[in-house]
Amino acid sequence: MKRIAMLTSGGDAPGMNAAIRAIVLASHYSGIQPLGYQHGFNGLLEQEYRYLGTEDVYNIIQRGGTILKSARCQPFTTPEGARLAASNLNQAKVDGLIIIGGDGSFHGAEHLSNYWNGKIVGLPGTIDNDINGTDATIGYYTAIDTALESIDKVRDTADAFERIFLIEVMGRHAGFIGLSAAVCSGAEQVLLPELYPDAPPELDDLAEHIQRAQKIRGKCSYIMVMSENLWPGGATDLANQLKARTGIECRPVILGHVQRGGSPVSLDRMLASKLGAYAVEALLAGKTGIMIGERNQQLVEVPFQQSWNKPKALDPYLVKIQRQVFDLVKNENNTN
Ligand code: F6P
Repeated sequence: MKRIAMLTSGGDAPGMNAAIRAIVLASHYSGIQPLGYQHGFNGLLEQEYRYLGTEDVYNIIQRGGTILKSARCQPFTTPEGARLAASNLNQAKVDGLIIIGGDGSFHGAEHLSNYWNGKIVGLPGTIDNDINGTDATIGYYTAIDTALESIDKVRDTADAFERIFLIEVMGRHAGFIGLSAAVCSGAEQVLLPELYPDAPPELDDLAEHIQRAQKIRGKCSYIMVMSENLWPGGATDLANQLKARTGIECRPVILGHVQRGGSPVSLDRMLASKLGAYAVEALLAGKTGIMIGERNQQLVEVPFQQSWNKPKALDPYLVKIQRQVFDLVKNENNTN
């Protein structure tokens, strides 16, 4: 193995730069030449790459985003796209490729492996944490903290005005950010796709819980954390409907892409640094078709298919204690 390439694909995540740095440093340490493809799989189609020296990765471990840029790339998903990518990789004399991204990127990796003979290794990089086989994905811990910082601020104003706030967080179709942010912010209610797999929650139940909280505690602030894509019409629509049903002011806050940015927290930097260095070792050992993850502080090699073949489960104990917070309001007697 003389030359390895890397790319970042799909939604960027804080810590991707730390992973790039780790790959570049480990490559140079092992006498391998690292290349960086720009703009995700688009870079493979456009043969848009550059050599990465150690000087290219100075001072990037703390930066959000990705110095290689990212993109989602539809043309690559066709057989012609993958053939072109394979031919470009061969032309650039690449022996191994490291793909940093989420499950869409790993599907891309698998697709490419049908057309290219080089070795391919993936690193889980997404704020959503929806990848099986690893306890956490690069970017997830930072996204929780970013969401939490905002929710804590909303709580201050919610408390001052004794208002109800619905806070919509990212996660695509997974509730990891929502659950963690709800538990850590002391939210009264959390709506996650995993808790409502068949249909959205009943409006009456949500309204009743809000009214009950106000009855028991007197007028008070109330934070509901909800995952995106859970309620048709999102937080704005649900807030309007709850206001109409309860007569109480309900305000939506959609956190959006702020959750994807920012300097990675230490846990993401450590995870990215370990996974990046190990990806190079795995390629050197001739491994291919795997994602590198971490479980119980052990680095693990997970075949791509296993990273997406079943939904990753939420931490059941976090679900339980959040449920208890909800039930305490639901079941408490009004002693006032
Ligand atoms: O996968 C990361 C993510 O931020 C999801 O949480 C979100 O649903 C999606 O990407 C948004 O993607 P885009 O920025 O392409 O709209």
